[in-house]
Amino acid sequence: MSKMTAVLQGTLNWVDERFPLTSFWKDHLVGYYAPKNFNFWYLFGSLAMLVLGIQFVTGILLTMHFKPDASLNASGVPVSFASVEYIMRDVPWGWLIRYMHSTGASFFFAAVYLHIFRGMLYGSYRKPRELIWVFGMLIFFLLMAEAFFGYLLPWGQMSFWGAQVIVNLFSTIPLIGEDLSLWLRGDYVVGDATLNRFFAFHVIAVPLVLLGLVVAHLIALHQVGSNNPDGIEIKKNKDANGIPLDGIPFHPYYTVKDIVGVVVFLMVFSVIIFFMPEFGGYFLEYNNFFPADPMVTPAHIAPVWYFTPYYSILRAVTYPLFGIDAKFWGVMAMGAATMVIALLPWLDRSPVKSIRYRGPLYKGFLAAFIASFLILGYLGTMGQTPVRTIVAQICSMIYFAFFLLMPIYSSLDKCQPEPDRVTSK
Ligand code: HEM
Repeated sequence: MSKMTAVLQGTLNWVDERFPLTSFWKDHLVGYYAPKNFNFWYLFGSLAMLVLGIQFVTGILLTMHFKPDASLNASGVPVSFASVEYIMRDVPWGWLIRYMHSTGASFFFAAVYLHIFRGMLYGSYRKPRELIWVFGMLIFFLLMAEAFFGYLLPWGQMSFWGAQVIVNLFSTIPLIGEDLSLWLRGDYVVGDATLNRFFAFHVIAVPLVLLGLVVAHLIALHQVGSNNPDGIEIKKNKDANGIPLDGIPFHPYYTVKDIVGVVVFLMVFSVIIFFMPEFGGYFLEYNNFFPADPMVTPAHIAPVWYFTPYYSILRAVTYPLFGIDAKFWGVMAMGAATMVIALLPWLDRSPVKSIRYRGPLYKGFLAAFIASFLILGYLGTMGQTPVRTIVAQICSMIYFAFFLLMPIYSSLDKCQPEPDRVTSK
């Protein structure tokens, strides 16, 4: 052993006596056996983690120059809006940091939606992974809150009016609604108090909880082990040393495989940042390049693309019920549409997990669900017309039917037998 190696080994021993560094490396990387048949869909967990890192780093850098302040500067522009302009024009590389952050928000949702879809394809939410799913859903809710709070900060027209619309939704709740929205805004209108509290939530409160939940998500995952595209438990077939026969060490096999995904991801990410950061108004909306003006309502207020399926469900409810305004039921439907996903582990009664062995009923319902989700997403970006409202109502019903009828169709479905060992398809 060279002197250098001896010093390094000595240092590592010193650390290991005080902190479980080597055992962590062994338990969670080289000694963590993941199924050998992971496919493309298994990339999105690591990609979501990568985007989380990008958002943290770029977010901290933006915070160094951003000023949450709704008052007008000497040129009559809100300070908050002007500070974003300053980042874009004067801060060295500020434009890059800001575009990384705004594009990162959209990529975060894209990665998380695909990650959730993977869970639906392979039944990853089924026993014993219910808690991974529940932590995931809590992450999803917080992510939506994080994006909503962040969107107010540049204090553009869409920031202002988007927040106005969403906070006003709370005022539809009978009895407490008006007081609740006043309490959320901290003022009678969306104003400086709202901006400051949204800033506090966006830069510290929500990210802190988000990070904690991601850690809990991964601890739960490593407690039970990963599912795979065949939906069978690799822990059922172990060798004499207790190592799953269909497992391979996470490191180096999947660390290297994930790097390939990361490289492709960064290429796509860079193309968007450098060539189309607004992405046709889907990532950064046209109206948000105008400073917030409480006196001028934009003709068409639509949320960013990742909220539009739920926004469509909100608008699809047009009938009052029990003497309560339709808007209230719209808010309830929108909330229910996000929360019902968390119930999947208890709604699915199929004898198999993976789509590969499911019958035509599940496949048909899943296809209809995906189509309705995409149509709702599209409709949410458009203005309302009577025909679009009817289409949104039909799609909302399909959306809910997928979940609420699942206990019935998943138990009636004609499934194929699962293999004993993972396949290498
Ligand atoms: C910040 C957001 C998230 C991050 C960073 C994250 C991270 C990860 C990672 C690294 C994995 C292991 C690799 C993989 O299986 O892809 C994983 C697995 C998993 N995640 Fe997430 N996740 C996030 C959000 C979610 C959400 C919103 C859900 C669903 C509600 C979810 C459900 C799952 C499930 C069920 C697994 C196990 C999959 C399997 O073994 O087949 N995650 N997550």
